Amino acid sequence: MKNIVVLVSGSGTNLQRIIDTIEAGEIENAKVSLVVADRKCYGLERAKNHAIDHILVPRGKNFSSELAKVIPADTDLIVLAGFLSILKPEFCENWNGKIINIHPALLPKFGGKGMWGMNVHNAVIEAGEKESGATVHFVTSGIDEGEAILQKSFEVTAEDTPETLAQKVHQVEYEIFPLAINKVLQNK
Ligand code: GRF
Repeated sequence: MKNIVVLVSGSGTNLQRIIDTIEAGEIENAKVSLVVADRKCYGLERAKNHAIDHILVPRGKNFSSELAKVIPADTDLIVLAGFLSILKPEFCENWNGKIINIHPALLPKFGGKGMWGMNVHNAVIEAGEKESGATVHFVTSGIDEGEAILQKSFEVTAEDTPETLAQKVHQVEYEIFPLAINKVLQNK
């Protein structure tokens, strides 16, 4: 059984999707062993509702070293699911190849510092992009720079707004996140 630790900062709908797909057997032979939040958020409630161990490690200067202390050594995969703190290079190197993130755009476009949440969707609309989507990628010390695992795009129409993009991106995320987790865990 593979142990997944999920890191969240927000509502945690992607966390919910991971929990649900594990329960449905779509992510094989795995369990969420721990949910870590860097602030009070609904993601923690979701963990509680499913009797999953959860802990709040407050964001701030020493976050990465405090986080390192709570991640069990037998963790197979650390999944960033709407997680907003930047992890220190040392932490990323220690877990090299075992940390993945979901980003709400088609990396390498619209990634890097400040490119999170609605900032991303505002930037995509402003740039007049013809498509957007989501990317699951490995986490390295460079923000949003690690190798892509799965990516899926959709057309941006003239009617789209940052808000409609956010909704469409979430739907794509729910599709590719479980597939990417499976892929990494099975080394496919
Ligand atoms: C997702 O769009 C993800 O790409 C981004 O943050 C959002 C989290 O949404 N990193 P949720 O908390 O899973 O609903």
